[in-house]
Amino acid sequence: MGKPVMKLHLIIGVLAVLAVSLVNAEDPYLYYTWTVTYGTRSILGAPQQVILINNQFPGPKLDVVTNNNIILNLINKLDQPFLLTWNGVKQRKNSWQDGVLGTNCPIPPNSNYTYKFQAKDQIGSYTYFPSTLMHRAAGGFGALNIYHRSVIPIPYANPDGDFTLLIGDWYKTSHKALQQTLDSGKSLPFPHGVLINGQTKTTFTGEQGKTYMFRISNVGLSTSLNFRIQGHSMKLVEVEGSHVIQNLYDSLDVHVGQSVTVLVTLNQPPKDYYIVASTRFTRTVLTATAVLHYANSQTPVSGPLPAAPAYKYHWSMQQARTYRWNLTSNAARPNPQGSFHYGKITPTKTIVLANSASYINGKLRYAVNGVSYVNADTPLKLADYFNIPGVFSMNAVQGVPSGVAATVATSVMPTNLHDFLEVVFQNNENAMQSWHLDGYDFWVVGFGSGQWTPKKRRTYNLVDALTRHTTQVYPNSWTAILVSLDNQGMWNMRSASWERQYLGQQFYLRVWNPVRSLANEYDIPSNVLLCGKVVGRHP
Ligand SMILES: *[C@@H]1O[C@H](CO)[C@@H](O)[C@H](O)[C@H]1NC(C)=O
Ligand SMILES: *[C@@H]1O[C@H](CO)[C@@H](O)[C@H](O)[C@H]1NC(C)=O
Repeated sequence: MGKPVMKLHLIIGVLAVLAVSLVNAEDPYLYYTWTVTYGTRSILGAPQQVILINNQFPGPKLDVVTNNNIILNLINKLDQPFLLTWNGVKQRKNSWQDGVLGTNCPIPPNSNYTYKFQAKDQIGSYTYFPSTLMHRAAGGFGALNIYHRSVIPIPYANPDGDFTLLIGDWYKTSHKALQQTLDSGKSLPFPHGVLINGQTKTTFTGEQGKTYMFRISNVGLSTSLNFRIQGHSMKLVEVEGSHVIQNLYDSLDVHVGQSVTVLVTLNQPPKDYYIVASTRFTRTVLTATAVLHYANSQTPVSGPLPAAPAYKYHWSMQQARTYRWNLTSNAARPNPQGSFHYGKITPTKTIVLANSASYINGKLRYAVNGVSYVNADTPLKLADYFNIPGVFSMNAVQGVPSGVAATVATSVMPTNLHDFLEVVFQNNENAMQSWHLDGYDFWVVGFGSGQWTPKKRRTYNLVDALTRHTTQVYPNSWTAILVSLDNQGMWNMRSASWERQYLGQQFYLRVWNPVRSLANEYDIPSNVLLCGKVVGRHP
């Protein structure tokens, strides 16, 4: 009888040691205090009001490592409520920290909120930006780069340097004036320019013969951009957390809300070269340039700018199809990406989402399946938590396009934890679309023109499609994605084009499990801000 007991003690002892070492190995915490203010910057020639974070425009670069815990106290010194959202950060089990109006109360002026989230099992180039009103048009955005842990290999040699390029369309008009235009029921005018890192002149310096990483994100409001570097080809290595087949490209289309990471070897004669971001699919082409400076160069930039692709949508769609998962390489976790055979899973549900533009009460609104989203005064996530009825509607937006005139609602689509969805974005408009889902990345399995039908499934890439958090949908075309709903919460599905988002092209996906369990979802944060119908409640 004595022996088993001793063994048990031994096992308990081993477990205790393990537990201690797990605590010791807890992922590092990074602490930040960010203060948001207005400031004045001359960007396109004349001074204009911008939104600064810690006096910086764009905001500070967040450089973190996979699994780092981020504790970020955000102090709002604007005259309006404010929130930041972390574009592409999955917020595992933690939609509490997503920073959109469906999950968080906005931070009132002269007040603060401390975000607590983890870059759990993620790697790659991401961004953050203000999700409130039209703040994003004035700044407040920045890069969020998640580096690999030293124990996890990456499928390329460590680059000799790392550049972040936030590219985007820009208005000289203030965010309040832009908002007024939208509130009055009109569309925004064509932007005034394109910026690279908030400027029209930036220089990136590297040494001849060395290889540099360029992390390129489109942080603009609505315009797809084409990115290229004079005399240099770009090796695509990562797209929104996926390690891809490392093809070489002369130029890349980057749509609103998207990020790509490329490697560029400085293998040309020592000189300065143009870096170009120009608007795509627009009648007037706006162009921003920056400079790639070889450290030993004595020769300034010269010659014509490298040309944009001669062809439009079809070319762009073809390029998108060349983005493939490298099945044998890992991403943030040690197992190869290809060990998840997404193409062998039968979807539990198919949802077709058609975007539309129409006038409701004489004002321009955008809708999804005939429902134009309006914000509630109470975050949907908090209404759910405190069981407050009447805040949102779970039967407004349906999983198929509606034939009737658009109406407004605070629309939530109910789904169950562990559903596996096929989502088809059907774009019957002449405008380019960019769709984003919070809390997830998804496989982009197909692009096609015209109307999607079940027969189009034959064209899907069910083997090595990449996962990403934002996909483009070409005019009068469709894009199909697959998504594994393994992250419980209330998640924003939205147009990344901010005019469309602001005027209703969004809704929330409620990924639900009737049993409340900390294994599936973290508890409400102790510092949660309360507003609307949950004022005075105790978490
Ligand atoms: C606001 O900041 C203070 C420290 O300056 C902190 O103690 C407090 O928790 C923050 N409030 C919230 C809601 O996070
Ligand atoms: C795919 O990843 C593997 C493992 O990291 C790497 O050796 C290989 O070169 C990559 N293949 C391509 C085509 O990028």
